Amino acid sequence: MFSNGRRMLFSRLIIFVAFIGITGIAADIEFNNIKCITCDKEYLEFDYCYLRSENRTYKYLSMKIKLHQLPVRNSKISKRDTRRIVGPYNGSIDSCKFMRDGRNPLATHIYQAFKPYTNINHTCPYNHDLILEKVSVSHVNNVFKNFIPDGRFLLNLTFYNNNIPRGTTDNFEFNNVDCVTYGKEFMEYEYCYLKAINRTYKYMSLKTILHKLPIRNAKVAFKIVKRDTRNILEHYNGSINACKFLRVGLNPLASFLYKTFKPYSNLNHTCPYNHDIILDKLPIQYVNSVVKNFIPEGRYLLNLTFYIDNIARTDVLVYFTKS
Ligand SMILES: *[C@@H]1O[C@H](CO)[C@@H](O)[C@H](O)[C@H]1NC(C)=O
Ligand SMILES: *[C@@H]1O[C@H](CO)[C@@H](O)[C@H](O)[C@H]1NC(C)=O
Ligand SMILES: *[C@@H]1O[C@H](CO)[C@@H](O)[C@H](O)[C@H]1NC(C)=O
Ligand SMILES: *[C@@H]1O[C@H](CO)[C@@H](O)[C@H](O)[C@H]1NC(C)=O
Ligand SMILES: *[C@@H]1O[C@H](CO)[C@@H](O)[C@H](O)[C@H]1NC(C)=O
Ligand SMILES: *[C@@H]1O[C@H](CO)[C@@H](O)[C@H](O)[C@H]1NC(C)=O
Ligand SMILES: *[C@@H]1O[C@H](CO)[C@@H](O)[C@H](O)[C@H]1NC(C)=O
Ligand SMILES: *[C@@H]1O[C@H](CO)[C@@H](O)[C@H](O)[C@H]1NC(C)=O
Repeated sequence: MFSNGRRMLFSRLIIFVAFIGITGIAADIEFNNIKCITCDKEYLEFDYCYLRSENRTYKYLSMKIKLHQLPVRNSKISKRDTRRIVGPYNGSIDSCKFMRDGRNPLATHIYQAFKPYTNINHTCPYNHDLILEKVSVSHVNNVFKNFIPDGRFLLNLTFYNNNIPRGTTDNFEFNNVDCVTYGKEFMEYEYCYLKAINRTYKYMSLKTILHKLPIRNAKVAFKIVKRDTRNILEHYNGSINACKFLRVGLNPLASFLYKTFKPYSNLNHTCPYNHDIILDKLPIQYVNSVVKNFIPEGRYLLNLTFYIDNIARTDVLVYFTKS
């Protein structure tokens, strides 16, 4: 499909950078600008790349890339004011693999927004130019706004293309889980464990025994701590009002995580809760595929502290390793 000259060019890494300015104001997102930069005109050029306003309500994004093959290898969103990268949105994805197995949930979500407008809609290889045609900005807004806090952002998608064999030996492992109660008179656990059935199927289950029902308010504080250094991972700590979240579901990171365990739990309705909480056989492989793209290598502890009536009641501790 490619001449030798083309093949050699493939070994160059950065092909181009597309960046989109985004301003998030109170859940209303405005796309300010788009720029497409090519790093190697010999290999790749943009026929066009622009954001256009038809009228006040209809704005769209179009681009056409002339090339032969283009796996997306890297993308990140950074804060424009501080230049700081927004934690969970920094990562890379092997796009050919993604188009094949669609495993990355955040990418899936974003991809669904663009798919109707593009011919990047099949598995690799690509032997035609890439077109993104009149992506309606209000449509993209709806997808992005739930994920992005207020502020001015820059979405920097860098597309890499290399012929180096994929070295995605990502190893992600849940090592242990521990449920600690702060007071047996308030709550206890009937069970809380991680169980490996075989090499590919491992799950987590827990059941609480709540002595003071119903629960009308709850807060969950979460943090991911690096086990070696005890450092808290930036961007992965915070707290959330659980009853409010179950009612309005506005916190994007929480929504995203909640969706992964909701099917396996009876934590699936709004407050009050007048029954015990059960998490039944949450398959770890699935959680792996969600989390592994967000976390750098290391040994970690996810520490969830549940406050009910403003008093810490229990810690759910999940120990995991990414190597
Ligand atoms: C904006 O333009 C789009 C596409 O041309 C059209 O469908 C829509 O009705 C227009 N909206 C307004 C408010 O003029
Ligand atoms: C996120 O960005 C930081 C800073 O640029 C970088 O060191 C880190 O490797 C990135 N993480 C991922 C998963 O790409
Ligand atoms: C991909 O997009 C092209 C152009 O929009 C369209 O002709 C084609 O049918 C689509 N293919 C699939 C598999 O959706
Ligand atoms: C986008 O990311 C690439 C690769 O990390 C970097 O070289 C480039 O300077 C970034 N562009 C902007 C505008 O930050
Ligand atoms: C692992 O166990 C699950 C559930 O019992 C089963 O469906 C799956 O086929 C098993 N996989 C292997 C490789 O034995
Ligand atoms: C996250 O942890 C850092 C360091 O411990 C702390 O300064 C910061 O206030 C925490 N952020 C939230 C939202 O809890
Ligand atoms: C919540 O989960 C329980 C137990 O799995 C199930 O019986 C119930 O139908 C679910 N309710 C909702 C609203 O999904
Ligand atoms: C989990 O967080 C709580 C609240 O910050 C803290 O008291 C507890 O010691 C932490 N547990 C571990 C194992 O670090």
